[in-house]
Amino acid sequence: MRSSPKQPHRFKRLTVIGGLAAALSFGTVSAAAGGVQVQGPPGPDLTAAAPAATSTPLPDYDSEIVDQFDSANSVNHIRHLAVDIGPRLNGTPQEREGAEYIGGVLKSYGFEVTLQSWGPVSTKRVAKVTSSDADLPGGPNWQMAASASGKFTGDTGVKGLVVDAKTGQSDAEFPADAEGNIVLMDYSTTAAVRNTAVANAVSHGAIAVILAYPTGNSAPPSFTLTTPQPEIPVIGGGSAHSTWIRDLLAKGPLTLAIATNEYVTPMGTNVIGIRHAVGDPTGTTAPIVMVGAHIDSVLGAPGAHDDASGNGVSLEVARTLSRYPLDKELRIGGFGGEEGGLLGAKAYVNTLTAEEKARFVGEWQMDMVGTPYEPARLWALTPDGQSNYVVQEAYNAGARAGFDGLRNCRLGQSDHQAFFDVGIPSSLFIWLDYRPPASPAVCGPTGGTYVTEPQYHRPTDTMDNISPERLQTTLDVVGGAVAHNALNAVTVSAVSDTGQPLAGAPVRADCGKGPRNLGTTGADGQLEAVFPHVKCDFTVTVEGAVATERRVSISGDQAVKVTVDLTKPTISLTRPTDGAVYTLGKDATASYRCKDNLSGVVTCVGTVRDGKSLGTSTVGFHDFTVNAADRAGNTASEKVTYQVVYRWHAYFPETMDGKAGSSVPIKFSLDGYHGTRVFAPGYPASQPVTCDTGKPTGPAEPTGNPGHSGVSYKDGQYNYVWKTDKSWSHTCRQLQLKLNDGSGHFTTIRLK
Ligand code: BES
Ligand code: ZN
Repeated sequence: MRSSPKQPHRFKRLTVIGGLAAALSFGTVSAAAGGVQVQGPPGPDLTAAAPAATSTPLPDYDSEIVDQFDSANSVNHIRHLAVDIGPRLNGTPQEREGAEYIGGVLKSYGFEVTLQSWGPVSTKRVAKVTSSDADLPGGPNWQMAASASGKFTGDTGVKGLVVDAKTGQSDAEFPADAEGNIVLMDYSTTAAVRNTAVANAVSHGAIAVILAYPTGNSAPPSFTLTTPQPEIPVIGGGSAHSTWIRDLLAKGPLTLAIATNEYVTPMGTNVIGIRHAVGDPTGTTAPIVMVGAHIDSVLGAPGAHDDASGNGVSLEVARTLSRYPLDKELRIGGFGGEEGGLLGAKAYVNTLTAEEKARFVGEWQMDMVGTPYEPARLWALTPDGQSNYVVQEAYNAGARAGFDGLRNCRLGQSDHQAFFDVGIPSSLFIWLDYRPPASPAVCGPTGGTYVTEPQYHRPTDTMDNISPERLQTTLDVVGGAVAHNALNAVTVSAVSDTGQPLAGAPVRADCGKGPRNLGTTGADGQLEAVFPHVKCDFTVTVEGAVATERRVSISGDQAVKVTVDLTKPTISLTRPTDGAVYTLGKDATASYRCKDNLSGVVTCVGTVRDGKSLGTSTVGFHDFTVNAADRAGNTASEKVTYQVVYRWHAYFPETMDGKAGSSVPIKFSLDGYHGTRVFAPGYPASQPVTCDTGKPTGPAEPTGNPGHSGVSYKDGQYNYVWKTDKSWSHTCRQLQLKLNDGSGHFTTIRLK
């Protein structure tokens, strides 16, 4: 088992939430489960969801949302619940204050908020202990047990200096100034010892008694006295309380205020925030994604980790998701009475109709989601020890966040059990030193064991028992799973125009804030990505071709197909034909067309020479190329070669007679003067041939005066003077005039 929080951990700017609770006001609340609805302010500016468009592509929505999770915001919520409010025992006003705070925050995020009262629950007797002259460790609001045998002062309470009377069993242990003050003594598990201590304190004139465990990391005890003391409050503290008080007394005088209250069969409170789906404002059809945490803590415990931490994470998930229009219904539950036996969550699931339950995607229960206690790891614990949808989604989010420390095994003992019991996929997410059985296969039937952190259910479950790093991991992994499910699951499939799935193709979506990289398609040509309620242009790139599916409305889980045109455009080139011959200087035009059936032709251009589609101002062989491109980026090219020749006229016959050794004038015209270098290199040439069939009998040799020498021009005519050789007498030779336009002209001469 390994758990490695993502490095480096992010500590981001704070989103201020202070003072919200004070600004809240709720209407009357019905006494039965069902509650009242509190309408929130107009929704937040949804256009502010993403950072401003930049030249680098945005991340996908999963990453964009997880990047916005900031555990510093969670810590602020936890501090408000655990420090400003303090212990939130079920059925006390502090549980309700917690619910109101959470409701106010959710309202500010645009949630519709309902406070549910349910119960009644068993009578609670509690002491609120504060100080006007000391910073109380773990305070400022300590909670102790108020003994039913003492006085209930109401909120006004009593105030006095504290004196230490040790065990309180003899007069010698009582300081002289016990009179009129608060007496601290050791709590004994023996009723007679307790009774003696309190009776002694009363006889010394105490105005209140604190019996606190001296050692053993104990929680505040609830107790009665054999001799009731209805004139003064008698309260029970945990060992942390006695340690803290004695440490403060060692430094000087300490004043405490003690207010004891008895809440007779009070009601518990849940807070439920609902953010309806865009297309389902009344909440009848949209899938429901729910995050839960419990508000209440055990007697005497500030419950920073158990479970203000869960609400801190829930609220940060709510804040982040509230910036996006969604097609899923998001519910945030703050349940009371969890410590009393999952009472609030059970009351809540009882209010769900069958139709509502059927809409649930799952419930992600956040309970103790970030203690710095080293042996703790992040666990997904289910009542049956089996993985389920919400567990699997947390694993998937962990993989996206690069966290492989999540493990799954079996445990109830939190509100997820209530959801499990009505058939809703749920899991407890908890940082706990959980020890699974040797074989994971046994998680289902027997489960494992666990060791809690020392502060668990103790007055020391304070802000010191909160790890911002681990909260961040919980946000990234569990919050990431919730966000993923609150968005629409979109399957993008990339196919070619011939219907082939396109694997490994990068997919981007521009949903108004600039392009986002979604990754590349798998072997099946598909890619899964999540989206809020948005319109996007989906773009797929493959083999240099690009296709965009424009203005796709995403309004639920759906499929998007992007067809990529991978077919090259076709070119039909009718003029010039390959090998076509044109006369020098004569106007000629090319003729061609390009076609593309899918994305359409964007380029169809042929070679331009001399400013014309088909230039004929220079002799010789020329390439003519047509380049075509379609909108998708496919290109095609077609090339032909044409020839531009002189307008040739020969003033000599095809065959003639001559005298070996004489000069033979060869006259021709080329339609004007074109200089004297009109022959191809190596020409003119002559070759011996048979006189009857004209078959060559030897190699062609350049004439003695190749090229331009021996060429003259006069009156529109070229005259080439061919010097024959005496030795050629009684043979026939072919004179070959190859021109620099690529044409060849011949005459055969019979030499005497
Ligand atoms: N946060 C705990 C859940 C828990 C479970 C903590 C296991 C540590 C280990 C929860 O608040 C709690 O204390 N639950 C009760 C059970 C409940 C049904 C009263 C518990 O585990 O004792
Ligand atoms: Zn608990």
